[in-house]
Amino acid sequence: MRETWVVGAASTRFGRLAETAREAATRVAIEAIRDAGLEPRQIDHTFVANCFGLTEHQGHLGPLVNNGLGIPDVPSMTVESACSSSSAALHEAFVHVAGGFADAALVVGAERVSHLDTVTATGFFAFGADYPFETRNGATFPGLYATLAGAYRAEFRTTPEMLGAIAVKNHANAARNPNAHFQKEISLQTYLDSPMVASPLRLYDCCPFSDGAAAVVVASPEVHRRPPTEPLVVRASARAGAVTALQDRSELLGLPSSRLAAAKAFRQARMEPRSIGFAEVHDCFTIAEVLALEDLGFFPRGTAARESLEGTTARDGKLPVNPSGGLKAKGHPVAATGAGQVVEIFEQVNGRAGGRSVPNTQTALAHNVGATGGSCSVHIFARR
Ligand SMILES: CC(C)(COP(=O)(O)OP(=O)(O)OC[C@H]1O[C@@H](n2cnc3c(N)ncnc32)[C@H](O)[C@@H]1OP(=O)(O)O)[C@@H](O)C(=O)NCCC(=O)NCCS
Repeated sequence: MRETWVVGAASTRFGRLAETAREAATRVAIEAIRDAGLEPRQIDHTFVANCFGLTEHQGHLGPLVNNGLGIPDVPSMTVESACSSSSAALHEAFVHVAGGFADAALVVGAERVSHLDTVTATGFFAFGADYPFETRNGATFPGLYATLAGAYRAEFRTTPEMLGAIAVKNHANAARNPNAHFQKEISLQTYLDSPMVASPLRLYDCCPFSDGAAAVVVASPEVHRRPPTEPLVVRASARAGAVTALQDRSELLGLPSSRLAAAKAFRQARMEPRSIGFAEVHDCFTIAEVLALEDLGFFPRGTAARESLEGTTARDGKLPVNPSGGLKAKGHPVAATGAGQVVEIFEQVNGRAGGRSVPNTQTALAHNVGATGGSCSVHIFARR
């Protein structure tokens, strides 16, 4: 395998876009290629993630992005892997560049859902669960993650304050991120006073419905020796799967695909969880951040919620987690989320993260889950 770098990154603000997913995807693609100091014609392959294009009457975004870039003859792949779509696209780009099938590849994730009301969006999102067993029987993602939160609470006696600490932290980080959906801090009391959505999850336990687009350029240093920015060396790109329906899992105290992908990634990178400087993890609900931190091996099972309450995962804590604001507050434009996590890591490493900068940017991890873990990607990055 060849060494592979992330050499450019760009993102829209997450929240509400005036443009279509296709237009936003094309815009960030142009910006990321420019950030990498490349021309569109130097891209050998594009990987474009999108889940809900059909609600905008537009599927097959890959070639359309290439059309917009003026490279219609370049191959593209449109990737759907629920909320882990653009990290799956990044994995494909990595495989192409590391394997020598491309010298430079573009990864884009884009989503627009703000034209859908909450009930309609909830219904569309739930198609990412197991339809006959979950969705058709009324399950939604807030409901499924509430099931996980309930199981965890029964075993480890988590308090509302522990989950609330995660929401407060991620909102505080997002308040320092000009690309975040929510740019306001919240207090623990605001969290505790917020309405119940699916017990035990309250409004501030949930990510919002966001529009957004994010792009990164992956290249081999063999051909792109001096990028204008500090590249991220891809030390690991790992994916794993799991039984999709929660009812068929042997336990609910974590996501098996997160555990598997993490184990593969740390093996590939020849690293241990303790060598990671900061992490962007998949916190679609606050309980998901707790499960992620344990599945990734940062904390023993049953302890991550308490660590969050004690500030271990704050920006100035021992392991900063979701300095971007995470899905909870930066927002969750489904197919753009995984690429957005890598954009954040790129911004941190390049000193472009302003007031949300973390102290140690030598190594970072991105963790992106599809639905309740039917798919999962873990990427580990390091400075040159
Ligand atoms: C939590 C949820 C049900 C709230 O939806 P809603 O009740 O229709 O909320 P609205 O869109 O009417 O917004 C009402 C207010 O709450 C705010 N809000 C909405 N969702 C929010 C969230 N997740 N966190 C914080 N504030 C939120 C809105 O900004 C709005 O504030 P304003 O009155 O100051 O403008 C919805 O955001 C949701 O389902 N989120 C989960 C999405 C999901 O499942 N994604 C997939 C994960 S796997």
